[in-house]
Formats: sequence, structure tokens, C-alpha cells
Amino acid sequence: MNRLSNAQLAAVEAFRKHGGVRAAAEALGMDRRGLQRLLRRAEVVQPGCTSVGSARSDDSPPHEPIDRPVEEVLAERVARITRRSEESIETPVVGCPSGPFVVWHCTDEHLDDNGSRIDALADDMGAARRLSASRLCGGDILNNWPLGGRLAGKWAEQEATLPEGLALAKWSLNHYPPDVYAFGNHEKMNAYLKEWLLEVMPRRTVVGWWSVRFVYRPAQGRSFVVTLAHDFSQGKSWFHPLHGHIREDLESGSSDIYLAGHLHCEGSMAFTNAKTGRRPLFCRSRGYKQFDGFATQIGKGGNAGGGHSTWLVLDPREDCDERAMFAFADWRGAEAMLNGLVNLQAV
Ligand SMILES: [Fe+2]
Ligand SMILES: [Fe+2]
Repeated sequence: MNRLSNAQLAAVEAFRKHGGVRAAAEALGMDRRGLQRLLRRAEVVQPGCTSVGSARSDDSPPHEPIDRPVEEVLAERVARITRRSEESIETPVVGCPSGPFVVWHCTDEHLDDNGSRIDALADDMGAARRLSASRLCGGDILNNWPLGGRLAGKWAEQEATLPEGLALAKWSLNHYPPDVYAFGNHEKMNAYLKEWLLEVMPRRTVVGWWSVRFVYRPAQGRSFVVTLAHDFSQGKSWFHPLHGHIREDLESGSSDIYLAGHLHCEGSMAFTNAKTGRRPLFCRSRGYKQFDGFATQIGKGGNAGGGHSTWLVLDPREDCDERAMFAFADWRGAEAMLNGLVNLQAV
């Protein structure tokens, strides 16, 4: 097992002794963020060392008295939840050109999986760079299998180690940084990954759990409201991979574009919502985990050919949805459409 540094060891011991970050940071005379950073790194070196279970595995009583008035705890929590609820009703803004531009919906990379098409991802990344595409990550960047329980055995099926997986994720996020990132179920399999990803991602990236609603807002022209989700959980059909998108729009009816991954199959359609009169675009991208039995099973034949990502071309100069939003399963289609629209502009 990898060894912890002296600083990490002291952080883990204080955390276990005091049962919380705040108390441990006070005992060590350091600030909370510094201690959290040490604990996160310790978790990467020695997974499980900061879990609640290990913190409570000694003989300490489960209910220790707190060292400050409960009113102070209450006020702190009220302030935190108020801030959070204010943030949740704001729609984050992502800048975009005033003319046509490309969006790369890149999801389910599973970079540490033996069956993932990293060659296709590198090709897509090159195309995204040439097209100056806005990258949207839909989650499951790594398998990130749990370190205990039934799924822990999956580590034996992949060659990439945990540090190699993290290095691949860092490469992907630094090589072509996303504008928006929605975490999927695989980011949740080990708690350390979320914090680690937040550290390696650029500060400007908009991040959310499972689903992020944001708006592309150009200096001139129309905006595009996008719901980027790992999946739309309400509304499932074995016969229609976009069923959840339809239900989401029928219930919320407030986005122009709905994007999801997770099921390892692909498809897109435009849908006229008779209630709102709007015509949103629904897309599901297959992701890069191609040669995998489970992906085939849940994708209902998902290892056949086809694209891995969805490529959108959006034109803020057009108010009419039919002429403003286009979806392709391959960057070549998006490039041709973009060139067509730019040339049209020049005529
Ligand atoms: Fe996935
Ligand atoms: Fe998933």
C-alpha cells in the first residue's frame, strides 16, 4: 500500500481523533481548506483512510458534546443553505460567439476502462480544437469503481490503476477544458473524486451534480438555454432513448436543448411541444466505452458503429429554432454545417 506523507498522516490522525474537519483543523492550528486538501490527497494515496467508518472505528462515543452553542451551528447552516438556494435559482451564463458555433457533448469517457475508445476521444478533441467548440462534459469520466463492496471486483477487469485513471482524467480536462461539467453516477462511486475533479478543473467551468441548466449568451443575437444531464431520470423507455428528455420538457418546458448520456446509445430529435409552442432539441450521446458487455446490454446493442458524441451547431443570428439548432453524431457533419452557415453569412 502507498505511504502517506507525514503531513497527510497527521491530518488523517487528527480527523479520526476529532471526528470532523473543523475540530481537527482547530486542533492542528491550520485552516479548514488546507486540512481538506491534505485529506483529499491522503484519500488518493490510501483510499478509505478518511472514510466516516474509519473515523468512528475506535472506541470514541458516537455522540460527543459540541464545543459551541447549538444556535451558532444553526446560524451557520441557515447561512449556507440560503446561499445555496440563491445559487440554485440563478442560471449560469456561458459566453459564446454572436455567429454560428459548435458544441461538443462529450460524455461517458470512462477513460480507465479497457473498452473505451481513447483514440476516438483524441480525434474528437483535435476536431473540437479546430472548430473552437464549446465542450460540455456529461459525467462518468472514469469508471472510478468503489474500493469495497460488490463492484470493487471490477478493478480486476481493467488494466489502468487508480493513479493512471486520475492522470488520464487530468489530461482530458486540461487538454481541452470543458465549459460545463455534470457529474454522473461513476463520479459518485468514491467520494474523493468529486473534490479532486474540482481541483483540476478550471475555475471558470460550471459544475453540477447530475444535471446543470445554463445559458449560452452571445453579445448579440438569441440565447440558448441548455439542460445538460447525465440522464433524465424521470421517464424511461426500452423503446425510446429520448423518452426522459420528452418528459423533462413536458414538465419543465424551459430549455432549448436537452443533453444526456449514461445509457450508451445515441439519438437526437427535435420535438414541438404543443403546450408551449417551442421546438427544443433532444440528444443522447453514446460515450466512448464501446467494447464492454454492460454498455452493450444497457445500450441495447451499443457496441455497433456510430458516433461517440453529439455535435451541435448553434446560430444565435436565427430566432427560428429550426434554423438555429442542428445536431450531428460526428464532428464532420458539424464542420460542414458550420462552414455552410459561415459562407452563407459572407454572401
Ligand atoms: Fe457511463
Ligand atoms: Fe452513467
